[in-house]
Amino acid sequence: MKQKLFIAAGLLALIVSCDPPKHGISRVANIDPYSYTINKRTESENGAVVSAHPLASKVGLSMLKRGGNAVDAAIATQLALAVVYPNAGNIGGGGFMVARLADGKLVTLDYREMAPGSASRDMYLDEKGNVREGQSMNGHLSSGVPGTIAGIFASMKYAKLSFTALIQPAIDLAERGFVLTKREAAAYNGLQADLKKYNTQPNAFMRSVPWKEGDTLIQKDLAATLKRIRDKGQAGFYEGETARLISEEMKRGGGIITAEDLKNYKAKSREPHVFNYKGYTIVGMPMPSSGGLLLHQMMKMIEDRNIGAFGFQSTQAVQLMTEVERRAYADRAEYMGDADFYKVPVKALTAPEYLAGRMKDYDPDHAGNSTQIKPGQATGHESEETTHLSVLDKDGNAVSVTTTLNNSYGSKTVVGGAGFFMNDEMDDFSVKPGVPNMYGAVGGEANAIAAGKRMLSSMCPTLVLKDNKPYIVVGTPGGTTIPTSVFQTIVNIIEFNLSAEDAVYKPKFHHQWLPDVLNIEKGFPQAVRDSLQQRGYKFAERGGIGRTEVIRVLPNGKMEAVADNRGDDDAEGF
Ligand code: GLY
Repeated sequence: MKQKLFIAAGLLALIVSCDPPKHGISRVANIDPYSYTINKRTESENGAVVSAHPLASKVGLSMLKRGGNAVDAAIATQLALAVVYPNAGNIGGGGFMVARLADGKLVTLDYREMAPGSASRDMYLDEKGNVREGQSMNGHLSSGVPGTIAGIFASMKYAKLSFTALIQPAIDLAERGFVLTKREAAAYNGLQADLKKYNTQPNAFMRSVPWKEGDTLIQKDLAATLKRIRDKGQAGFYEGETARLISEEMKRGGGIITAEDLKNYKAKSREPHVFNYKGYTIVGMPMPSSGGLLLHQMMKMIEDRNIGAFGFQSTQAVQLMTEVERRAYADRAEYMGDADFYKVPVKALTAPEYLAGRMKDYDPDHAGNSTQIKPGQATGHESEETTHLSVLDKDGNAVSVTTTLNNSYGSKTVVGGAGFFMNDEMDDFSVKPGVPNMYGAVGGEANAIAAGKRMLSSMCPTLVLKDNKPYIVVGTPGGTTIPTSVFQTIVNIIEFNLSAEDAVYKPKFHHQWLPDVLNIEKGFPQAVRDSLQQRGYKFAERGGIGRTEVIRVLPNGKMEAVADNRGDDDAEGF
């Protein structure tokens, strides 16, 4: 059967490649990369894909239409994002996949980046023990060993179509190009100074004249790398020519990733982090992501408090959610890190008596205080630029994938001759215990740097099951705001009965223990802000929080897919 699909998919790829050119360029997977629409919401019966870029969602949908399952669509979407959304879509970064397969099996894959073999705890400190500004955030030294391609191949065992079919649209998009939106052209223009600073060789994004809307971005080096991966599998990235290009780039720019580090990288299959909330089964990512554990703590701390009766964005509900966020993030700073290196007390941190104890000093009349509320006695921070995709198919395969380069365009270093950005994920470690990283979060021993260790993440790809069947597929980028956005989206749907659009689009808020401020998005209700201010809360207004992509199953069995309106995110279904 698999063989037949392989041949059929191969023929289809050939036919697709031979489509008549439009604007001189062939269509890709039956999609016109020169003129495409953005859909914010779909209702469908056979399958749905939501991601940060319309071309990537459409590529994913094309795989479902060819008979692929949700895993096929997720793989093709990720590969397409690596081409059309290089600020976060990637092959030079890492990610996590949480899936529920049609037979009910739960799968979580960890393809988080890994500290290189010669990395060490104090590698970003000077002789006085002070942090060398910027070294963990930009340029060659900020990169961990990439995991995305290993993760994609680890997920292939759940796919139906051939890898050749799944990667072809990404190759075509890189080789033939796609048209830039105004927003994308502006982003590349804003990147030029950093590209000059952090690159040793020219690349497709550098230009002497400004990019403008309607320009075509062609990425020949990236296409060649993707072809090596198509032809040689995982070794097309971690060995041979691509590995040589990466390790030479590192040598030229003072990075430390070697060919051996690349060869040693492995995606890891993990035990899903599963818990029950009022009869729903919630499936999340375990360490090295803090996402599943934080979500578990926050949901359990509200479970017996009748939050639904308080009402959506009522003062009581926002205060309660803020205070559980504060307590969970205090624990994150103290206890969370790569569990292969540090014993994370997951059981203790989620014990009902522990969580009840954490809420003993909750006072609905007054703001909590992060100097008094410390991590509990149980025995970093991340960038905003990450990306999420949600997929659901008619057989009940549900896939939630979040991937990242960390900062926007990662380290800003493109691998010379290979055409892709490397991550700056080393900054997600606690580069010096107790010192906040670029987004203000602190960490300690649990998340200190060590060779071969994976840096703590906040990525929170999540599934909510009802009667053991997929009900909600959700996730978002947003650094430390990721788990609080997922928390709010789920609570908005299952406690406040909001539509999926309202659950995603309405202004969000975020508290992460330190700094002790309540971050709110523009449009957050002024009356709630005023009454919380009277209780002693301090506020910081900020731009968009997250770009949440959600699919939920409606009472009539249809799949409702909603793409966040904070960007050009796109929902497709059929
Ligand atoms: N770099 C974002 C995260 O892993 O949480």
